[in-house]
Amino acid sequence: MAALLLRLRLRLRLLPLLLLLVVSLDAAPRGADAWGKQGHIMVCKIAEKYLSEKAAAAVQELLPESAGGELSTVCPWADEVRFHYRWSRPLHYANTPGVCNFSFSRDCHNSRGQQGMCVVGAINNYTDQLYSYGDSKKSSYNLTESLMFLAHFVGDVHQPLHVGYEEDEGGNTIVVRWYRRKTNLHHVWDNSIIETAMKDFYNRSMDTMVEALKMNLTDGWSDDISHWENCANKRATCANHYAIESIHLACNYAYKDVEQNITLGDDYFFSRYPVVEKRLAQAGIRLASILNRIFGDDKQDANAIPLQAQ
Ligand SMILES: *[C@@H]1O[C@H](CO)[C@@H](O)[C@H](O)[C@H]1NC(C)=O
Ligand SMILES: *[C@@H]1O[C@H](CO)[C@@H](O)[C@H](O)[C@H]1NC(C)=O
Ligand SMILES: *[C@@H]1O[C@H](CO)[C@@H](O)[C@H](O)[C@H]1NC(C)=O
Ligand SMILES: *[C@@H]1O[C@H](CO)[C@@H](O)[C@H](O)[C@H]1NC(C)=O
Ligand SMILES: *[C@@H]1O[C@H](CO)[C@@H](O)[C@H](O)[C@H]1NC(C)=O
Ligand SMILES: *[C@@H]1O[C@H](CO)[C@@H](O)[C@H](O)[C@H]1NC(C)=O
Ligand SMILES: [Zn+2]
Repeated sequence: MAALLLRLRLRLRLLPLLLLLVVSLDAAPRGADAWGKQGHIMVCKIAEKYLSEKAAAAVQELLPESAGGELSTVCPWADEVRFHYRWSRPLHYANTPGVCNFSFSRDCHNSRGQQGMCVVGAINNYTDQLYSYGDSKKSSYNLTESLMFLAHFVGDVHQPLHVGYEEDEGGNTIVVRWYRRKTNLHHVWDNSIIETAMKDFYNRSMDTMVEALKMNLTDGWSDDISHWENCANKRATCANHYAIESIHLACNYAYKDVEQNITLGDDYFFSRYPVVEKRLAQAGIRLASILNRIFGDDKQDANAIPLQAQ
């Protein structure tokens, strides 16, 4: 009993310190974790709406129990295992040698030069693994993990600074102030723009923001969807193309007019948040269409769902 009390008192005394630690950890640059948790969840909430019946059924079967039947629950998972699965860390991004284009053979590798170990290679890898779903001979891969990785990396490849410059680690080493708060450029694109948009436009609610994006997909962007989905690579994916889009957006929006120690505020926010919103929507649509291609052979089936849902 005495020992318990002592431990309790000790813990209470440590509490402020712990809180401080948690807060400062949160403020520190967090490395290359692409869209923050919220971005990944939103991408997957959008994707869920556009799944064909077959794809939705396969996803349900593959999801771990902890997902509560929702794909979006497991979409941040790959970030949570980055330290446990060290080999997976380079799979969240790709870097270019300071140029505004992406070349798979030049840029898709890990630090040891192993080819394919980047976000584009990973999307193709996990797509390929998922094609063995339902094969009579069991896949040697854990397809639950394949699905959770795929859903995450399709989000990542759409975050413009996940295909950024090697030299600044996709903006991680560029220190900026977001309004008053010190952070880095990568984090601004992972989290800050989304958080500010949520606060300014969506009553601080992620669900409200997702609803607005879904609404736009049936309205302002409805003509763009088939273009976003279009992918001539039948069995593979068009991840290469999404990476090229991202480095272009990184050059034209993310890095543009930014330098060390700059303060970013309204001007930057209002000209960049539309890019972020569009990338979230594109990622959702494309994730759904990749899953529909994998699990449902009938593309018409896939297209029918969003129309029926209205
Ligand atoms: C990429 O951009 C650089 C610099 O602008 C250029 O020299 C190079 O040819 C481009 N490479 C590709 C693959 O487009
Ligand atoms: C492909 O997936 C396997 C299983 O998770 C992993 O060991 C391998 O590193 C992955 N390769 C790429 C390029 O993603
Ligand atoms: C597949 O991966 C998930 C998530 O890591 C894990 O919980 C599950 O036990 C794995 N299944 C098998 C059969 O190894
Ligand atoms: C904003 O959210 C609060 C709760 O967080 C709610 O009470 C309020 O009705 C919401 N306002 C609008 C306009 O949706
Ligand atoms: C909806 O789409 C239009 C047209 O592209 C765009 O101007 C607007 O910012 C979008 N709205 C949202 C909430 O994303
Ligand atoms: C940025 O600010 C830090 C101190 O806050 C300073 O040491 C550094 O030289 C500055 N860098 C540039 C490029 O101005
Ligand atoms: Zn990531």
